[in-house]
Amino acid sequence: MNQPLPKLAIIGGTGALGSGLAKRWAQAGYPIIIGSRSSEKASLAAEEITSQNHTISVIGTDNHTAAVQGEVIVIAVPFSSHAEILHSIKDTVSEKIVVDTTVPLKPPKVGTVQLPEAGSAAIITQQLLGAETKVVSALHNVAAHKLHDQEPIDCDVLVCGNIKTAREVVIGLIQALGMRGLHAGPIENSVAIEAMTSVLITINRLYKVADAGFKITGDLISGEKENI
Ligand SMILES: NC(=O)c1ccc[n+]([C@@H]2O[C@H](COP(=O)([O-])OP(=O)(O)OC[C@H]3O[C@@H](n4cnc5c(N)ncnc54)[C@H](OP(=O)(O)O)[C@@H]3O)[C@@H](O)[C@H]2O)c1
Repeated sequence: MNQPLPKLAIIGGTGALGSGLAKRWAQAGYPIIIGSRSSEKASLAAEEITSQNHTISVIGTDNHTAAVQGEVIVIAVPFSSHAEILHSIKDTVSEKIVVDTTVPLKPPKVGTVQLPEAGSAAIITQQLLGAETKVVSALHNVAAHKLHDQEPIDCDVLVCGNIKTAREVVIGLIQALGMRGLHAGPIENSVAIEAMTSVLITINRLYKVADAGFKITGDLISGEKENI
């Protein structure tokens, strides 16, 4: 018998990225809990999604309750409030997979790589939540608006984290969004992928596109025995 799909809590799920993820994962059959600083705002965001498709499961609540109820937690908030929001849910996520999408952008120069002193947003997340939380970083290079339409998304998603089985769960979630997820090594490697977002923003501007992304070339063969 198939295992039920895990409940996904999206912290900041009212925003551009989080609401797109909520829609696509809900359509793929995952039960979704949208988290917000305001439970009313979260409920409205959930109703907006379910009004387009009554067969899917999306509810809204405050960030802390969402993190308590979710089995996999997705962080989709701006870097400016990332640490504060992580502190507010820290007591709920021990042992869980936390998918961090945060890019450490510092407006207005979002097309310039400006990394935090700690190294990357994902390193901050792992430090704040502690080693017992399975932090996996992903989705930094996917333009949010692409998640909101029904078209296939033609790019790869590089997935970093210290626990291979947790990365595998996230790669499955990325496949459910309609993209290919690839193992990209430990959480320390997230810095390169987070930095790429500013490069893609610059390419978008210079070449007048809205959705530059990237794909890894080559016939990739999964290294089942590799424990990295
Ligand atoms: N947008 C993209 O294309 C994209 C792509 C890849 C990665 N990312 C990353 O994903 C994260 C979310 O991006 P986004 O574009 O979805 O962000 P956003 O729409 O600006 O914000 C997402 C949600 O964060 C919550 N929030 C918490 N503190 C906030 C604050 N100080 N100011 C504004 N909102 C705050 C808000 O929800 P409540 O008001 O309901 O609490 C808001 O709806 C970011 O770290 C970004 O780097 C974004």
